[in-house]
Amino acid sequence: MRIDIITVQPQLLEGPFSHSIMKRAQDKGLLEVHVHDLRPYGTGKYKQIDDYAFGGGAGMVMQMEPLVTLTEELQAERTYDEIIYLTPDGEQLAQSRCNGLSLRQNLLMVCGHYKGIDQRYRDHFVTLEISIGDYVLSGGELAAAVLVDSLGRLLPGVLGDETSALTDSFQDGLLAPPVYTRPKSYRGWEVPDILLSGHEAKIEQWRYDQAMERTKTRRPDLLED
Ligand code: ADE
Repeated sequence: MRIDIITVQPQLLEGPFSHSIMKRAQDKGLLEVHVHDLRPYGTGKYKQIDDYAFGGGAGMVMQMEPLVTLTEELQAERTYDEIIYLTPDGEQLAQSRCNGLSLRQNLLMVCGHYKGIDQRYRDHFVTLEISIGDYVLSGGELAAAVLVDSLGRLLPGVLGDETSALTDSFQDGLLAPPVYTRPKSYRGWEVPDILLSGHEAKIEQWRYDQAMERTKTRRPDLLED
């Protein structure tokens, strides 16, 4: 999978993909992430990329020209399956959307800043708008990092244990059950006996019951669908 990201703050995206699982995914050639600085595409002496909103009001709006020039430059190289704009008024990201997007070849993500981007770019270039939650970040970069991570870990071969993404919370519509590791007893707090019993089927049933219980109490909305 190849992901291109358009941003005015490329430094914000240096860290998240250079460590741990996202780094491993790139080292193995399973994921390519290319961050593109929008600033050089700005106009005039100051490489301007934003301007006041028509109609007045506080805040700057990212202009069409720099965004379109960079987008079309990238589109000349490859076809994008989706052009995703990260925005708090987009579709709220959920595991089902991550699963679907992880099957695509080329994604272009656009990070907004200031008051956002000119609506005409959203109308004519963007194919999907994603929010990572009902709160406002100072830009789309951290949201793009969340999205890349959630997709990258689903690519076959990225996680050490091929099955482990399948047992994540949300993959079967339930939250994940509790997990324990050694020691068996810590300060008198014990690991549930069933997990030490060696009965695979019973352990499986216990995990399912726990996942169901946890989902009922914490996220009953997941059981409604
Ligand atoms: N940009 C600013 N806030 C955001 C959010 N919650 N999700 C996605 N992009 C954003």
